Amino acid sequence: MNDDPYLALLRAALSRAYAPYSNFSVGAVVRAQSGALYSGANVENAAYPEGLCAEASAIAAMVMAGERRLIEVAVMATGKALCSPCGGCRQKIAEFALPEALIRLYSPDALRAVFSLAELLPHSFTAEHLN
Ligand code: THU
Repeated sequence: MNDDPYLALLRAALSRAYAPYSNFSVGAVVRAQSGALYSGANVENAAYPEGLCAEASAIAAMVMAGERRLIEVAVMATGKALCSPCGGCRQKIAEFALPEALIRLYSPDALRAVFSLAELLPHSFTAEHLN
């Protein structure tokens, strides 16, 4: 696991989280189809619902770099419990991922769990439903 490229990036992302209201810092990294890695962190707001999740922040960075397909998402939080993507983030991931995409959950020191997107968001609503 020493050569896991996500660990250092997740720790760096986590350290930049802006979470003064929840004190729950989250870092996320998405691997796009090109192989490039994009980082994000949660960015809270005094108007609480305006806060942004780490996964959404990383996905926005990927899209702004011109990529539209992600193959892996890695998430790290400081708390004891693993931070699994919230419902809204699962939907945001699904917009740019196939059901086989992997969601990797980290504690600050190691990879703890891996799920497919299909496991976390079965029977999802996608663009195909609009056609
Ligand atoms: N949060 C994330 O960044 N990602 C998740 O998947 C779950 C929750 C953030 C939102 C908020 O800033 C803090 O964690 C507490 O909910």
